[in-house]
Amino acid sequence: MGIVSMRRRISLSLSLSDSVGWDWKSKVSQRGIVTSCRAVVLPRFGGPEVLEVRPNVEVPDLKPNEVLVRARAVSVNPLDTRMRSGYGRSIFEPLLPLILGRDISGEVAALGASVRSLIVGQEVFGALHPTAIRGTYADYAILSEDELAPKPVAVTHVEASAIPFAALTAWRAIKSTARISEGQRLLVIGGGGAVGFAAIQLSVAAGCHVTTTCGSQSIDRLLAAGAEQAVDYTAEDLELAIKGNFDAVLDTIGVPETERVGINLLKRGGHYMTLQLLSL
Ligand SMILES: NC(=O)c1ccc[n+]([C@@H]2O[C@H](COP(=O)([O-])OP(=O)(O)OC[C@H]3O[C@@H](n4cnc5c(N)ncnc54)[C@H](OP(=O)(O)O)[C@@H]3O)[C@@H](O)[C@H]2O)c1
Repeated sequence: MGIVSMRRRISLSLSLSDSVGWDWKSKVSQRGIVTSCRAVVLPRFGGPEVLEVRPNVEVPDLKPNEVLVRARAVSVNPLDTRMRSGYGRSIFEPLLPLILGRDISGEVAALGASVRSLIVGQEVFGALHPTAIRGTYADYAILSEDELAPKPVAVTHVEASAIPFAALTAWRAIKSTARISEGQRLLVIGGGGAVGFAAIQLSVAAGCHVTTTCGSQSIDRLLAAGAEQAVDYTAEDLELAIKGNFDAVLDTIGVPETERVGINLLKRGGHYMTLQLLSL
């Protein structure tokens, strides 16, 4: 993930600890283990006003492969806001109250018995699985060892917390699904967004030729990231402006119009990938 620079617009980064001092409500057992902490809790589905900051939310014991991370910054992802509004209600309603949040950047506070790649005090960043119930909007979050990576010193915690879930979404699409390889042509529809921007950088690093669509204010940034062509979807006819066909199309917008354009520009046997959420 080191090659992916921060997304341009961090939706909102919460730094629970910075505003009021570290660990202001966390309880630590006699053995030095954190047993409860402050967290942002979702007691029922709704708008942002339903979120509650609660003290003394339980911190479960670590499983052998798990890591306790002291949060320095977490970011708000589209999945978080959708879950808050009721996406996945059939799965999540029986589990309320939930702690939302996928992304985190912070410091390792404790290690499960089998964790070998990290040490206490190390700066890390990472993202939870989409279905994790205890999210990262807490002073202490629990992630598995393989969901974390050392935080590069060149990025701040706030920047690092905006990267993982979006970049991993891009990685899964272009590496795991499309299996892009050097010399291939990739079209990223919506390159100005977090997932699209990460996809451009990952594909350029893999030696692909990348074309993207974006708003006018994003063009310079996406060309600087290595896209060979950036087409303003608000001003140009995409099918006239974009020449040739593509080995893979990542459609981060997923509306009928972008789907039509994306499929029309695909090579025979190529991959069209959309980020439209499934209904749950
Ligand atoms: N972020 C994640 O971690 C994540 C993970 C899984 C799935 N998703 C899903 O993936 C989709 C994109 O998420 P995101 O976080 O990347 O979005 P985002 O950061 O909010 O960016 C969306 C961008 O799309 C651009 N855009 C809007 N309409 C467009 C069009 N017709 N053609 C081309 N560009 C257009 C705009 O860019 P300009 O500023 O250039 O106009 C806008 O900034 C969402 O449906 C989201 O739910 C996101």
